[in-house]
Amino acid sequence: MNPTQILSPELARSVALRHGTPVYVYSQAALERQARAALAFPHAGGLTVRFAMKALPTAAVLRLFDGAGLHFDASSGHEVWRALRAGIAPAKVSLSTQELPAEVAELLAAGVRVNACSLAQLETLGRLCPGSPVGVRLNPGRGSGGTGKTNVGGPDASFGIWHEYTDAVREGARRHRLEIVRVHTHIGSGSDPGVWQEVARASLSLVREFPGVRTLNLGGGFKVARVAEETGTDLRAVGAPVRAAFERFAEETGRALHLEIEPGTYLVANCGVLLARVQDITDTGLGGRCFLKLDTGMTELLRPTLYGAQHPLEIVPADAGAGGDVPGCDYVVVGHCCESGDLVTCAPGMPEVLSARRLRQAQPGDLCLIGGAGAYCAAMSAKNYNSFPEAPEVLVGVDGVPRLIRRRQTLEQMVQNELEAG
Ligand code: LLP
Repeated sequence: MNPTQILSPELARSVALRHGTPVYVYSQAALERQARAALAFPHAGGLTVRFAMKALPTAAVLRLFDGAGLHFDASSGHEVWRALRAGIAPAKVSLSTQELPAEVAELLAAGVRVNACSLAQLETLGRLCPGSPVGVRLNPGRGSGGTGKTNVGGPDASFGIWHEYTDAVREGARRHRLEIVRVHTHIGSGSDPGVWQEVARASLSLVREFPGVRTLNLGGGFKVARVAEETGTDLRAVGAPVRAAFERFAEETGRALHLEIEPGTYLVANCGVLLARVQDITDTGLGGRCFLKLDTGMTELLRPTLYGAQHPLEIVPADAGAGGDVPGCDYVVVGHCCESGDLVTCAPGMPEVLSARRLRQAQPGDLCLIGGAGAYCAAMSAKNYNSFPEAPEVLVGVDGVPRLIRRRQTLEQMVQNELEAG
């Protein structure tokens, strides 16, 4: 998807002028369209779509999705508090975390749904909140992710309780009178749709072992196509056989299960653009490379460095009158941090391998729009590395008006918690 489909050149110039660069820009229309698509996921006995808020936890986005009828998945106690602070009702928040917060009993009592993600977590919940309804996150024995770093199921994943330990789960629950009401099986990000469907069926078999379970949460992980070479997920196609499996389950057991999905990427990835400016253009001589240096990088966009992720790029000339028939150039696009790992155009899946991208010939001062930047960009970056301040975020309303939803960090804010030694 071309970044200018989300942010037109005219709007890009005016946002850059008003708020400076780098700046994240999100489209309300695109966010709402994705929410509607997720809410149309096929289901048999009811559906809740949870936004995996780790992808983009800014309050204005949470409120927008709240208004669109989504619920929320939090991955730490801190995320739960952040959602509540944004005005999200506790009953709409589900917590699945590697690190149970000390105040989990308080959260549970307030109505937050909590999933035990290990046997030790189940024990802790039993000790602190005996008699409560809880969920369990199970590792269904199989995972799938776009990269090894994002596969969270199978024997190499530490997430959830291994599927062969369901006896221990029932035993722990019985001892503490915990009522297991939900099973959760998220297997990874960028999952293969076929594996996702198989795991959905396997998860239903696991639910048979828990008579009190009323809800099955199959996680997120739906791929989106950020660049032309990638294939996105058709949620209706993925969900149709899963709905049929839920229907069979209901016929066989008399239990109409409620389905939950919790996408992060699908809901926000292609709804955001990172708007940056070309700082400099350098080269390494004949037969060498031509580098386009941006005023952003791993400080706002870590995914290429971390996963070798691909993001679409478009140059928008600073001068609105610049002609359209400008020759293309092969640029290696790099970030502003002082290390060679700050590479925007790496080879797919290979963070260390330089890959040139054909872009409109650029001049320092031109804008560079980086697409696919809605998910895990503002939320997941090498913040303040080289002491670059956190970039602001802007939401373009359905009326076409850009509004600031997070300010640029100041130097004062960056250092405010530092103290004199002694
Ligand atoms: N549910 C749970 C429990 C999760 O841990 C995650 C993501 C999701 C849902 C949402 O997955 P999604 O629909 O976004 O694939 N930082 C990576 C992805 C890793 C996310 C980890 N957990 C990225 O930049 O692609």
